[in-house]
Amino acid sequence: MPNPFYLKELPVSGPFCNRVGEMTQLAEFARSGNNVVIHSPRRFGKTSLVRRVQNNLAAEGVITVFADFFGVGSVEDVAARLAESVFRVTREKEPAWKKAVRIITSFRPVLRPDQDSGFELTVEPSGGAVGLPRLKATLEELGRFIEAQEGLVQIALDEFQEIVMLRDSLRIEALMRTEIQRHKASYFFIGSQRRILRAIFSEDHRPFFRSAFDFKLEPLPVAELAEFLQRQFQGNGISCELAHCLLIAEQVGAFPYYAQKLAYFVFEHAKISGTVNDLEVGAGLSDMLSNEKAAFEATLQGIPSQQRLFLRALAKEPTPHPFAKEYSRAHNLGSLSATQNAVKQLSQMDLIEQDTEQNWRVVDPVFRLWLMVGGEKPFGK
Ligand SMILES: Nc1ncnc2c1ncn2[C@@H]1O[C@H](COP(=O)(O)OP(=O)(O)O)[C@@H](O)[C@H]1O
Ligand SMILES: [Mg+2]
Repeated sequence: MPNPFYLKELPVSGPFCNRVGEMTQLAEFARSGNNVVIHSPRRFGKTSLVRRVQNNLAAEGVITVFADFFGVGSVEDVAARLAESVFRVTREKEPAWKKAVRIITSFRPVLRPDQDSGFELTVEPSGGAVGLPRLKATLEELGRFIEAQEGLVQIALDEFQEIVMLRDSLRIEALMRTEIQRHKASYFFIGSQRRILRAIFSEDHRPFFRSAFDFKLEPLPVAELAEFLQRQFQGNGISCELAHCLLIAEQVGAFPYYAQKLAYFVFEHAKISGTVNDLEVGAGLSDMLSNEKAAFEATLQGIPSQQRLFLRALAKEPTPHPFAKEYSRAHNLGSLSATQNAVKQLSQMDLIEQDTEQNWRVVDPVFRLWLMVGGEKPFGK
C-alpha cells in the first residue's frame, strides 16, 4: 500500500485539494496583464498553486516563467535566476527559445548531460557588467523578450522578499520596479515572510508601492480538506470515516502541509488495521510532533529568552491585548518594553500574527501545539 500523502511540492499532476476559486482568480489577473502579490505563511501551498495556475495558462499558449529567489545571494544572482528561468521555460519551444537566446545576451545558457532529467540547464554570465548594471541589462532584455512574444507572458517570482536581504536592496527594488513596470507581462510576487513582502508593496516611500493586487492565500476549507483526505485514504485501501478526517484537518488548523504530514503518519499506523480510528490519529499526531521537534527546537534556539516566554504565552492563550498588565502578570512576561519588542521581532519573523478577530497568536498551528504540550521536553514525557 503506497502512502498517498505528499510532503514535497505537489507535482502539477498530483492530487490537489480545492483552490478552484483561487486558480480562477489568479488566472484572470494574469490574463488581464495584472501584477499580484501572493502571500501566506510558509507551506500553505503558494508554490503548488502558482505552478498549477501557470500550467493551465501554458496550455492556453501563455509563456510562463517561474524564478525562485529563495536564498538568493547577490544582485548578479537575481539576474542569473531570471535569465535561467526564461531559458528553462523556452527550452523545448523552438521559436521562443531562439528568441530567448538572441535577446538575452547578458547570460548564456549552458546545457550539461544529466542522468535524471536528460540535460541540466544553468547559465553563465557573458559580457563584463557586474552588480546593478548586470541586473539592469537582464531586465531590459527580459522586456524585449516579452515584446517579441505574440501572446501573453506570465512571470512568477517566488520568495520575492528575499531581495530585501541583499546589499543595496533599495536600489535593487527601485531598478526592478522601473524595469518591470515597462514590461508587458503579468507578474506574481510570491512570498512567505509576509511582513517583509507586504512592506515592499505597502510603504509609500518604496518603489513597488501599490503596484500590484494583494492576494492572501487562506487555509483550506476544513470540510473540503477532510473530504480530500478521505478520498486519499479510501483510494489507497484504508477506510476512514469523515469524522476522523475532520479531526485530522482540525488538529492542523487546515494547514495544507501539516494536513499531508499528519495524514501520512496516520496512514502508516492505519496500515495495520486497515482503518483510521482515534488510536491512529493520536499515534500519527505524536509521530508528527516528534518529527518536527528538531525544526521547532532550532526555531526556539534562534529567539532570545524574553521572546520565547511571550511566544509560549501566546501558544497557551492568544490575546487581543498582549500589553495588558493582567496578561503580563499571568504569564510572567516582565517589562512592557520587552513585550513590545517581542511582538515586533516575532511578527517580523512571521512567527506570530494578529488574526481577523484581532487576537495575537502563533502562526504555525503545529508549533503552537508543540509549545503547548511542553515545548523543549520530548512529546509525551
Ligand atoms: N491544495 C492542496 N492540496 C493538498 N495539499 C496541499 C495543497 N496545497 C499545499 N499542499 C501541501 O502543502 C505543501 C506545501 O506547499 P507549497 O506549495 O510548497 O507551499 P508554500 O509555497 O506556500 O510554502 C505541499 O507539498 C503539499 O504537501
Ligand atoms: Mg513556496
